Amino acid sequence: MIEFDPTHRIWLLSTPASAYALRLDEDDTLCHAHWGRPLTLEQAAAVPRFRNPAESTFEHPREGEAELPVSGFGPSALQIRFPGGAREIEWRYDGHVVDGGHLTIHLHDRHYPLAAELHYRVREDSDVLERWTVLRHTGTDAPMELLRADSASWSVPRLPDYRLSQVTGAWSSEFRLRREPVPGGETVLTSRRGVSGHHANPWIMIDDGGAGEHHGEVWSTALAWSGSWRVTVHRSSAERLCWTGGFGHEGVTWWLGPGESLETPVFAGLYSAGGFGGTSRAWHAYITRHVLPAGSELRPVIYNSWEATGWAVTEEGQKRLAALAAEVGAELFVMDDGWFGARDSDGAGLGDWAPNPGKFPAGLDPLIAEVRRLGMRFGIWVEPEMVNPDSDLYRAHPDWVLHQPDRHRTLLRNQLVLDFGRPEVAAWAHGWLDRLVDGHEIDFLKWDMNRAFTEAGRPGSGDPGRVWIDHVRGVYDIMDRLRADHPRLRIETCAGGGGRVDLGVLRRTDEAWTSDNTDAADRIAIQHGYGQLYPARTMAAWVTDSPHFLTGRDLPLRFRFHVAMAGVLGIGGDLLSWSAAEREEAAEFVALYKEIRPVVQHGVQYRLGDPPLTGVQYVADERVVVLAWRLPTSFGVSPVPLRPRALDPDARYRDDDTGIVHHGAVLLAHGLPLDLPGTGYASALVRLTRLP
Ligand code: GLA
Repeated sequence: MIEFDPTHRIWLLSTPASAYALRLDEDDTLCHAHWGRPLTLEQAAAVPRFRNPAESTFEHPREGEAELPVSGFGPSALQIRFPGGAREIEWRYDGHVVDGGHLTIHLHDRHYPLAAELHYRVREDSDVLERWTVLRHTGTDAPMELLRADSASWSVPRLPDYRLSQVTGAWSSEFRLRREPVPGGETVLTSRRGVSGHHANPWIMIDDGGAGEHHGEVWSTALAWSGSWRVTVHRSSAERLCWTGGFGHEGVTWWLGPGESLETPVFAGLYSAGGFGGTSRAWHAYITRHVLPAGSELRPVIYNSWEATGWAVTEEGQKRLAALAAEVGAELFVMDDGWFGARDSDGAGLGDWAPNPGKFPAGLDPLIAEVRRLGMRFGIWVEPEMVNPDSDLYRAHPDWVLHQPDRHRTLLRNQLVLDFGRPEVAAWAHGWLDRLVDGHEIDFLKWDMNRAFTEAGRPGSGDPGRVWIDHVRGVYDIMDRLRADHPRLRIETCAGGGGRVDLGVLRRTDEAWTSDNTDAADRIAIQHGYGQLYPARTMAAWVTDSPHFLTGRDLPLRFRFHVAMAGVLGIGGDLLSWSAAEREEAAEFVALYKEIRPVVQHGVQYRLGDPPLTGVQYVADERVVVLAWRLPTSFGVSPVPLRPRALDPDARYRDDDTGIVHHGAVLLAHGLPLDLPGTGYASALVRLTRLP
């Protein structure tokens, strides 16, 4: 709900359990007034203005107050160079429009032909507030240069201390959760890589250092953008905490010509009084209902051939794997890299998207027909944004890649990045993808992206900063068109694992390849970090071979399944090397997963415990599912029991496997009875049904 008080010139945006208020100052500066627990409009108008305890001629009078800072001594959200060199913006208020839960505030510069729209959207079923900005050149003369165009800036009430939660990592170790105090001054979180990144993810959470999994106030924001980005957190000397964020890293600029406008991506914010767990659950619900294109679907069990075959794919080999995949219960068979062009390694072939005639003499259809005959859907790996120099495409169009004149073109994984901001490149990519999906019964694309940008430029373009933004928009546009034209098509986002997972790409994809690291023990931490923001419904998780190819770790099949069953279960091992007994056991786990799938994928998630004994609980109506994992410990050590959440203390719960009936109150107080023998890796699945 959105209310406006014309006397105090204050807007109040209310969600079920939070409120956000902003105020228009005497000089038309939009100021932040409140973000936190619910308030009435009258209460919001009474919120005192922040007073800097150390006012001086060296402090800005509006320290940390502006909704979108354009000047001052903290980081600016908007930085512009007007023709003639002026840099400051002086806004004048042009009115506002409320359309349901959508508020648009119109501003224009007092002197220069620059207009802005600040957008806010709230919904009745979510505490997430979406914000974004549109800038427009309203004149007819010279262009102006945007040096920074953030989506939104945020501020929290003064707290005794500030702590930042984020995820960091690298290829195969992404989504490592870190929580650390915010230092004084500016802390920059950024990606300069052209993708949202493995090394960081464009979300942050702020608390006072005292919030926990199940309690405390947490303010969090997440950017809906899949390219390079920047969030600057500022803890001022007056102990205000503000942050500003948007697309592009430092130095990415944009020329705004007469009549042109620039729309930023959404930077969404959430206040929760329910600790980190409550924060995650609110994001999960928002993403499922309002971000994912088909959030209400159940994701199928995938078999993916990558770890089994590498690039050595053939029609016969894939058919053999498909037969076993169907036997263990896979519902979607995905052929990974290696099926096209001269693709026998990562050294050649990217860009030549026709089936390799040696591997697929009659094209893809015989394999697809066999997969369908086995009762599975068919998916295929693509990496549309990339080209190997050793390819017919690159030989024909060496100028189609991001590059700079007279500069070296750095190869990473022997490949270069195609410039999807160039219309002819985007048309080519859309053309072959459309023909691929149209001409065959393909239900699923694993859309990969395996290198960061370097020497990102488009010679002759005159506006070199645009490539960073244009590329992402080009990718989005092609995904959107493919989905619109092929309603059955589902897409998995992948960038060498979890290098491109964000609210922007999730708007046009159905699941994410979480990490190339499929070692179940390592996955526990990766999944823990992933799930801070993103729902299990999007978290693809395969069971693969043991010992693991990356870590050499040997883990029981049961443990591998129990970890992967916490997300969208898939199988990625070489089933041909599994024994009949292992395949039988796998089939039982897959069947069990299908049984608990509605609870895991559509239920409400609670994270339980601390290492060495942790778990994840999912609740949907009367059903409760817990997956618990015990890491190696010492003889005699007794891990703290896993106490479930959100049970009715007065109800009884039947264990669906043992038939034993438990009191809710006892489970809540004393934890789940888990059978975890020995001291090594051990796991359990508990299924409970609340009795009427
Ligand atoms: C990336 C993906 C893998 C696999 C390979 C294929 O690394 O993350 O899952 O698809 O590419 O080359």
